[in-house]
Amino acid sequence: MTKVLVAPSLLAADPLQFGDEIKSVEKAGADWHHVDVMDGHFVPNLTYGIPFVAALKKVSSLPLDVHIMVSNPDAVALDYVKAGADRVTFHVEAAIHAHRLTQAIRAAGAKPGIALNPGTPVEDVLPLIEDVDCIMFMSVNPGFGGQQYIRQTATRIKRVSEALRALGLDQKVLIEVDGGINAKTGAEVVAAGANVLVAGTFIFGASDRSVPIRQLQNLKN
Ligand code: DX5
Ligand code: ZN
Repeated sequence: MTKVLVAPSLLAADPLQFGDEIKSVEKAGADWHHVDVMDGHFVPNLTYGIPFVAALKKVSSLPLDVHIMVSNPDAVALDYVKAGADRVTFHVEAAIHAHRLTQAIRAAGAKPGIALNPGTPVEDVLPLIEDVDCIMFMSVNPGFGGQQYIRQTATRIKRVSEALRALGLDQKVLIEVDGGINAKTGAEVVAAGANVLVAGTFIFGASDRSVPIRQLQNLKN
């Protein structure tokens, strides 16, 4: 059994109060900050970029889990490492040389992760699972917070979780889930093998953020 880590997604924070919002979830016991970079091409929405990550790094006392939803990850991923990302997760659908990019991110000093959209076959990430620190299942179509969890995600997670176990990598490679996570959907994906939960609305929507964070951290796999 691995402890469940919780990464609040800043996408659901008040953008005019980022400094306070970060402190609030740190005080509430979050494990990582989840930073959703969106480029307006790979996904319709546009958020923040490299200087924002550099600014966050200065005030954050938690690892920065940077999720790059961009159409050119090969070109920009290392800039996020330089800016201070501790973990960089890019999309398998967007990378041209996905394997090379995992190696480059690691060589630059960050932990590489690979994300897959709900409609992407899990087979697409299997060749990479020995070379990443994290496999991120999108449980909504990326681009916006506050969407509904797609229930087929749990079955997809199970397949990768079994593949990791067969390789003896289940203690080494994390399974992260992103989108529509709350106490109920969190329990489903943790039972399927997930051990990192990203949650935006569920955490930032609460007046006491320690309540949802603790609820998710206490889920048992
Ligand atoms: C979606 C983002 C998610 C999103 C999660 O594209 O990658 O991190 O902010 O937000 P909720 O928890 O509200 O679905
Ligand atoms: Zn995300």
